[in-house]
This record gives sequence, C-alpha cells and structure tokens, in this order.
Amino acid sequence: MDINWYPGHMTGARRKMQEDIKLCDVIIELVDARIPFSSKNPDIDALASGKKRIIIMNKVDMADPAVTKLWVDYYEKLGFMVLKMDSRVRKETLKVTGPVKTVCKDKIERDRRRGIVVPRPLKAMVCGIPNVGKSTFINSYVGKATAKTGNKPGVTRGNQWIRISKDVNLLDTPGILWPKFESQEIGLRIAFIGSINDNILQLHEVTLKFLDFLKDNYCNILKDRYIIEELGDSEELLYKIAENKKCIKKGGEIDTDKACRLILDDFRSGKLGRISLEKPTNIE
Ligand code: G4P
Repeated sequence: MDINWYPGHMTGARRKMQEDIKLCDVIIELVDARIPFSSKNPDIDALASGKKRIIIMNKVDMADPAVTKLWVDYYEKLGFMVLKMDSRVRKETLKVTGPVKTVCKDKIERDRRRGIVVPRPLKAMVCGIPNVGKSTFINSYVGKATAKTGNKPGVTRGNQWIRISKDVNLLDTPGILWPKFESQEIGLRIAFIGSINDNILQLHEVTLKFLDFLKDNYCNILKDRYIIEELGDSEELLYKIAENKKCIKKGGEIDTDKACRLILDDFRSGKLGRISLEKPTNIE
C-alpha cells in the first residue's frame, strides 16, 4: 500500500526555515515520543547545521516509558540534548530554559569574555512535523495563546520574538517540516498516530497493519481492551472486535469499517494505554 501524502508549498517552507534558523542560537525540535524516528524530519540536520540542538520527545504521556528510555539513550548517544515532555503541562515546558542555557554555554561564556555584562537573551526556534505539538508547546512555554500556526507550511509572516525570560527569546513562528516517507513502515506509523487525514487512507488495511503490530508487541492490551482470548489473524480479530464492540450495521451485518475507526480512535485518544510504535532496534 502506498501512502501518498505530501503537503504543498514545501520549497517555500524550507526557504523560510533556513532564514529563520540563521537568526537563532538553538533549535528545539519536537518529535512524537511514540514515533521518535519516523516523526523526525530527515533534512533538519542539514538545515540546522552548526546550531545547538535540543530534541523534545513530546506526548511522552502516551508513549511506553520503557521504550522512551531507549530513545532518550539513542539520541543522547548521537550528541543531542533530549527532554521528555507533556507539552500540555506548563510546569514541564518551563524546564526547557535550563537546557537551552546549557547547550549555549559557549556563547554565554564568549559574551562574558567580551565584557557583555548583561547577557543577551538566547534565541530559540521550535520546529517539527505537523501535529507533534509545536503550538501546544509554544503556548504552554509562553504562558498564553501565541502560536498561530495551523498546519500551513510556507505561510510567511513577519517574525516576532517572544520574551520567555531574561535568558531566552522564542521565535513565535514554529518551523513546520515535512515527515519522511522513506518506507511503508514509516508512512504507516505516521498514519497510526493520526497525522495523515484518514479520508485519504485505506483505513481497513491500515487498521489490519495496526492490529498486526499490537499482536506482536502489546497483545495483552488487545485481549484486555476488547475482551478476546484467541486473537487469530488480524482480519478475524477485527471481526471479533466489531462483534464485541457491537459495531453492527442497520440490517444486522457486522460493521468492520466502524470497528477500524474505533480501534484507531482508542489508540489515538490513549484509551489503549501507553504504546510506542518503534524502537531504536527496528527503525531500519
Ligand atoms: P502542531 O502545532 O505541531 O501541529 O501540533 P498541536 O500543538 O496543534 O498539537 C496537536 C495535538 O496534540 C493537539 O490535540 C494537542 O492537544 C496534542 N498535544 C500536544 N502536545 C501533547 C502532549 O504532550 N501530550 C498529549 N497527550 N497531547 C499533546 P488535538 O486533539 O488536535 O487538539 P485539542 O483538542 O487537544 O486542542
């Protein structure tokens, strides 16, 4: 199955980001903690070359804590400063200021040596693919609704700097990047978390793949949530879930389409519990 989804105006968005990045000391990149690899833009390393970097594993409240730990180690080994975050919680977002200062300590030291007594605020920019939580993070960090993003790559507006504290200024426009679709697996994981409009997906096939994944990795969650003892193959399983959850059409026929939406909604709303879709060992 091919997932063909590519937002328009990406050339414009890329150029805008390149200009914005030049203005910044540090780039704060948000990834979705359930897919910390698939939700990481492949071009950002080139775009942000020479800049200090922080990765925020966002929506960590929805990811499997044991797997999140593996990812933190993975990205730390690659040299990133990594923070786990539930961006809806202001107290958590405020903890970013310390790490921003830590990664920029050379600049702070340089300013001090040059005799700049009152250090200039560090300039930070938030970026990430659509739906990872950029606006939520910015609004939470700033303390009021500021980020007027909407997922519209290439929308150019005058840049505004938001003063977070005497130490940090944040660019109010997050950099919207495009996800990588280098393999079917990556496309599927992005579809599972709901970042591709379901209307353009083959929902039945996507759901079967999701059930395959759950059977292999979280089979107890499946059994408990849908009250099923013998899982069977994914097509049979979908049918049983539809029966158990009373997904039935008017004429009494089993409605597997409804069951597909129900299963994906259960996952996306956290009703299935904390689930991670990829590990550092199964990304290639
Ligand atoms: P974006 O700017 O990167 O496109 O993402 P945005 O902030 O719009 O967030 C996308 C969705 O993710 C929102 O949910 C938001 O509430 C949710 N979200 C952001 N950060 C976190 C987090 O750390 N944990 C959890 N659990 N959710 C998070 P929504 O359903 O689209 O909107 P809403 O109904 O919550 O407003």
